[in-house]
Amino acid sequence: MAAPIGIFDSGYGGLTVFKAIKEKMPEYDYIYLGDNARAPYGDRSFEAVYHFTLEAVKWLFDQGCQLIILACNTASAKALKTIQMHDLPLLGSEKRVLGVIRPTAEIIGQYSDSKTVGILGTKGTILSNTYPIEINKFYPELNVYQQACPLWVPIIEHKMADKKEADAIVQMDIESLLAQSKNIDTILLGCTHYPLLEETIKKHLPEGISTISQADIVADSLQDYLSRHKDIEQNIGKNGHIAFYTTDNTEDFNTNAQTFFGSSIQSTHVDIQH
Ligand code: DGL
Repeated sequence: MAAPIGIFDSGYGGLTVFKAIKEKMPEYDYIYLGDNARAPYGDRSFEAVYHFTLEAVKWLFDQGCQLIILACNTASAKALKTIQMHDLPLLGSEKRVLGVIRPTAEIIGQYSDSKTVGILGTKGTILSNTYPIEINKFYPELNVYQQACPLWVPIIEHKMADKKEADAIVQMDIESLLAQSKNIDTILLGCTHYPLLEETIKKHLPEGISTISQADIVADSLQDYLSRHKDIEQNIGKNGHIAFYTTDNTEDFNTNAQTFFGSSIQSTHVDIQH
């Protein structure tokens, strides 16, 4: 059976990554799943994020996916390794789950002249320390500073990005990051929701500091992965078919997803809880 590529996020943020993937590889079939009913994941325990992500992964496998992208830093930081090491061997040797942190860590050192980068992410991503650990494998000389932004995803999920309160919160978190080192010249938006706040973020950045968002990095990395893994690539459906699923209200998802994805979409409700 021709398998769609599964794309998963806690909610809407993964759509920013999916948009780039679809633009780069429009020929493939895709299923997007947003666990909006349980978003945000950012403040949740390791056990909860692992449990929710595993439910999503199993559901996507049941839909025929063989390859799943966790388009969510929090799930990539807190659940991916356990799923890869513990669950995938039981679920089928031909199945793959990839995240967004490693492809970003592989490339981030190329962006910074001062060899000093800042990472903005959810509390879960930052406290897991996954970014400093992964970046150190590729760029041991790079200085990495981090700042958790626990209110940013709720702001975005509640469509409050253009409110003045959002502006003040973004400014406060950016100042906390930059206070850690004068040498930061590059800031990674280490949460797939954050490109939706990009305008506000840029407003509060001093000149000379640039931001990186992950969408194109992850899309390029997936394309490269598929060119190296023909056994997986050959099983992917190639009819350009896309299906969207949400664990919450479909009308809300359809309206909000349009802002994130750029074009109008129709979603189907699904219950993935076991
Ligand atoms: N898009 C998810 C991420 O990249 C958001 C996590 C959340 O639900 O808090 O981390």
